[in-house]
Amino acid sequence: MTRSIYIVGNWKMHMAAGETRAFVESLVPQVSEAKVHVWIAPPFTSIEAGAAAAKGSAVRIGAQNMSEYPKGAYTGEISSEMLKEAGADFVILGHSERRSHFHEDDQMIHRKLKWALKEQLKPILCVGETQEERDREMTRKVLERQLGEGLKDFTPDEVKQVLIAYEPVWAIGTGKTATPEIAEETHHLCRAFLEKNWGKETAEQIAILYGGSVKPGNIRDLITQPNIDGALIGGASLEVDSLRDIIKFTEEVIK
Ligand code: PGA
Repeated sequence: MTRSIYIVGNWKMHMAAGETRAFVESLVPQVSEAKVHVWIAPPFTSIEAGAAAAKGSAVRIGAQNMSEYPKGAYTGEISSEMLKEAGADFVILGHSERRSHFHEDDQMIHRKLKWALKEQLKPILCVGETQEERDREMTRKVLERQLGEGLKDFTPDEVKQVLIAYEPVWAIGTGKTATPEIAEETHHLCRAFLEKNWGKETAEQIAILYGGSVKPGNIRDLITQPNIDGALIGGASLEVDSLRDIIKFTEEVIK
């Protein structure tokens, strides 16, 4: 089956509102013919500017995190409603930086995923093992726990609305990409777990993106793997030219 392809920029704590506006204005005409989904997640305070600049185009703007609560006394948190009002269509959840620096666990990520679906914000669930876990041959166990807990009790229809991003922690921001073979093997493992729990038809429909030092130079070899349906890109998504090249090279090889 042919799945849609997603190229998603995760800007982390970069790009203020003015920079975001200029970036999106420059990107939009360059990707107007794109056959892949182009999504960008700027910081919270830049979402509105990004969404305004992307209006009427195929580029979608989203968030990097979201509160699990609808509203209330949660100092410093941002709700789904606020994100939607600012123009966000999707939300990245469970990024390894959220898990390690901000102590988000699988249960919290599960609650956020449930809430995002209810609120019709498309969630991207990030999973991935650390170097130590890979060295100790715990990759499968870690991924199955993150997927199993994150998507716990979800119906096949709910699971189908989630995008998965496999991001080996050892490849994030390190310049050390997983080889296409390692990435494909791990994506296959994730899909097999989805199939075991939610059936083949569901598993076949879910986009599994790869993340971790993706750049114009390695996107072709990654995206041509059968189980890799796109990329979640940090550093290389911060320059218009580099993001545009990643999109262009993706289209060249998937055509
Ligand atoms: P990177 O980040 O592309 O800079 O490695 C990816 C991510 O953290 O989503």
